[in-house]
Amino acid sequence: MSKEVRIVANWKMNKTIEEATDFISKLPEDIKVVSIAVPSTALYTCAQMKPPMLSLGAQNIHSETHGPFTGEISADMVKDAGAEFVILGHSERRHTFNETNEFVNKKVKQALLTDLQVILCIGETHTERDAEQTTEVLKKQLFEGLFELNMEQLKQVSIAYEPVWAIGTGQAATAQMAQETHFILRNLIKEKWGELASEKMFILHGGSIKPENIAELTSQPDVDGVLVGGAALDPSTFSQIIQNAGNAKK
Ligand code: 13P
Repeated sequence: MSKEVRIVANWKMNKTIEEATDFISKLPEDIKVVSIAVPSTALYTCAQMKPPMLSLGAQNIHSETHGPFTGEISADMVKDAGAEFVILGHSERRHTFNETNEFVNKKVKQALLTDLQVILCIGETHTERDAEQTTEVLKKQLFEGLFELNMEQLKQVSIAYEPVWAIGTGQAATAQMAQETHFILRNLIKEKWGELASEKMFILHGGSIKPENIAELTSQPDVDGVLVGGAALDPSTFSQIIQNAGNAKK
């Protein structure tokens, strides 16, 4: 039996409301569930017109519910606008906006309190991989990012492993490298939360996913889906990704 591959698009800081709705209107109807993290400005309008197989998410929230945080957006606000999930701890937020594991953990807790599902992104830099620190770095991001979560809360969380060196570079991890690292992650989850939690946890893969590499990557036993950036911006390339992952309805 072929497994159900979860496909999530992260549009990052791309698309106006018109561009976003145009993209959604071009999605083929014969696909199983897909998720798109749209810019917050487009959430509400996209949610009004979205087909049932599409789930919408936000790309970030603040850890506080409201208050003097100019330019920030709360979990309640994105939920109100139509988000069902939120991406947290993306490497662009960690590296460009200096987000720490502690801050990411606060956001995770706030998202769960607001009934938003969480996609927690983790990943090592090139330097860290070269220095053989990958497991150590991922363990820290994972355990600190999900600090104090109970088993019930954990059910609302997925992990996205995105090696920083693979994001936007065109140099995806090889399928073997992805499987090895996802296997390590599954074992870390088992170590902390037990066998059942580790089996149930969705571990997505991200970083230069394209129509050409998705089938091999998602055929790996511990790769449960993908988080797609650049290749999810064009409707026909994204449709090809869905097709090649086997997510079109037969
Ligand atoms: P790319 O697919 O453009 O490498 O981006 C990956 C990513 O950061 C998704 O969150």
